[in-house]
Amino acid sequence: MSNYHIKHLEEYYQVYRKSVRNPEAFWEEIAEEHFVWRRRWNNVLSWDFKKPEVKWFEGAQLNITENCIDRHLPTRGDKTAILFEPNDPKEEAEHITYRQLHQRVCKMANVLLEKGIKKGDRVCIYLPMIPELAVSVLACARIGAIHSVVFAGFSSNALATRINDSDCKLVITSDGSYRGAKTIDLKGIVDKALEGCPGVETVLVAKRIHSNIDMMPERDHWLQPLLDDAYGDNVAEIMNAEDPLFILYTSGSTGRPKGMVHTTAGYMVYTAYTFKNVFQYKEEDVFWCTADIGWITGHSYIVYGPLANGATTVMFEGIPSYPDFGRFWEVVQKHKVTQFYTAPTAIRALAKENLDYVEKYDLSSLKVLGSVGEPINEEAWHWYNNNVGKKRSPIVDTWWQTETGGIMISPIPYVTPTTPTYATLPFIGIQPALMDENGQEIKGNQVDGRLCIKFPWPSMARTIWGDHERYRDTYFSAYNDMYFTGDGALRDAVGYYRITGRVDDVIIVSGHNLGTAPIEDSINEHPAVAESAIVGFPHDVKGNALYGYIILKETGESRDKNNLRKEINQQITEQIGPIAKLDKIQFVSGLPKTRSGKIMRRILRKIASGDTSNLGDTSTLLNPEIVQEIMDEAL
Ligand code: PRX
Repeated sequence: MSNYHIKHLEEYYQVYRKSVRNPEAFWEEIAEEHFVWRRRWNNVLSWDFKKPEVKWFEGAQLNITENCIDRHLPTRGDKTAILFEPNDPKEEAEHITYRQLHQRVCKMANVLLEKGIKKGDRVCIYLPMIPELAVSVLACARIGAIHSVVFAGFSSNALATRINDSDCKLVITSDGSYRGAKTIDLKGIVDKALEGCPGVETVLVAKRIHSNIDMMPERDHWLQPLLDDAYGDNVAEIMNAEDPLFILYTSGSTGRPKGMVHTTAGYMVYTAYTFKNVFQYKEEDVFWCTADIGWITGHSYIVYGPLANGATTVMFEGIPSYPDFGRFWEVVQKHKVTQFYTAPTAIRALAKENLDYVEKYDLSSLKVLGSVGEPINEEAWHWYNNNVGKKRSPIVDTWWQTETGGIMISPIPYVTPTTPTYATLPFIGIQPALMDENGQEIKGNQVDGRLCIKFPWPSMARTIWGDHERYRDTYFSAYNDMYFTGDGALRDAVGYYRITGRVDDVIIVSGHNLGTAPIEDSINEHPAVAESAIVGFPHDVKGNALYGYIILKETGESRDKNNLRKEINQQITEQIGPIAKLDKIQFVSGLPKTRSGKIMRRILRKIASGDTSNLGDTSTLLNPEIVQEIMDEAL
């Protein structure tokens, strides 16, 4: 029996039970029936959460691009693999067939080889959402180079940190990017970043906006002429199941960004299987995930998951508000999109606009709607359900993380009855647990706690690049023999999960993970600043926005405060990127601290959200008097 495509609730429970009773047998069957291998595995799974070490399909050999491209050529060669929809609706969409994708990936792979990139080398990809981005990702995978895609909204500083952390030898970028009516000088950002990256030998530059840019002799090369000259076929490198496929950086609550390492076989199997089921994907569908490939959602559900299923996947270069707020719906109508997967922040922004923008378009092709990245509030859920799905298309509220590689808790559409704000049931093979603060599992229903996962799943990140200890400390030390997600959750009477938000110092702004520490570090580098603390507060579009409490040095006291606010945000923009800018900045004379010197963020969070009714016990603070002062001057 094939468990590959679940069609009703009873079947879900059956398959789920099977998958957790004997995970090895379950995943072995999926791997065997739905993928092409160069060599079979010796062992399906070995694991030890103490080390922590997890290996899936050990001994197996494969190349993920043979699974995502080559094997489709005999049956789907002329089918559109990537449907590129440009930023400007007047520019024609590009349909890249599987055969064309094969040739483009092979050419790019040959260019990388010619530039000296070998299996195991790291390649940084800093590109806008143009076909070259997907092609570069796949070309790295083709030759066994480890791709590290950095979202092209990050600043030069953030880019440099990521390039150096994983010693990337080559960077792929473009002359610039379009963002609505604006253009962004990506090459300029790369040039600035590379001033501090001695390890980068080569920069390949795709032409997109045709701007005049500086090309450094020897180092920088226009991509197109190299592609034109490259051979259009390439023998895929044979990879071991546990060879790294990519590194993707995510924010931690402290310190440097964490380069999460995903490996080949397990990631492929799990993203393909979740894609098939969570979106009830069928052969003629047109799947559109609006994320950027710079985030895990794009890796798993624009590139690898869809292509492993031979799907047509839309790559959208633009933004939801350009040329107007109907852009998403215009694209759905134009390409007859069947599955639409986006983030709550986009839904909330569009829900503020006139309904005409939605109603003008024919959305009858839609069968499944998805949400990801942060909790979806009830109002946004209903707006999405009523106006986009017309109450016909189920909404899958998918909970997962960069670290998990694929969707972990989610309804299966037309299978799991949905409830607004609930991610509902664990996906096949996923064993969640809710833990209390004493490290005990909370059993039963109608309970809440910290969300952990008890058993390995194929697409979990295997380590943090260059820092396995941090991997262990962050995810495996809070609870014995469990992966700790950093999220809180509740389980209701029927066993449905609802994610309640982060329980650590990560703040999710517009669906982007931001760690407090790197932002505070950046603020503290401003010459007028002595100390700072940032917290999140509720925002009707972004979900959370950032509130900064800043202590100035004496030299800063006399400065114009609004100018200072601008300078501080400018500094954050340069060092991290515009997504980390503070919405509110309050200058304070002190921060509430415990006797051990730890900032009491709980109190700051309450003040920032305007909820000062129950601040809890402040008497144990080192400086309880500061609380009143901060409250009196709160913004
Ligand atoms: O807090 C959870 C939130 O996003 C975090 C993971 O962020 P990132 O690694 O950037 O990956 C986002 C895309 C997979 C989680 O720890 N999150 C993600 N999806 C949901 C969510 N919170 C609530 N509901 C969701 N559906």
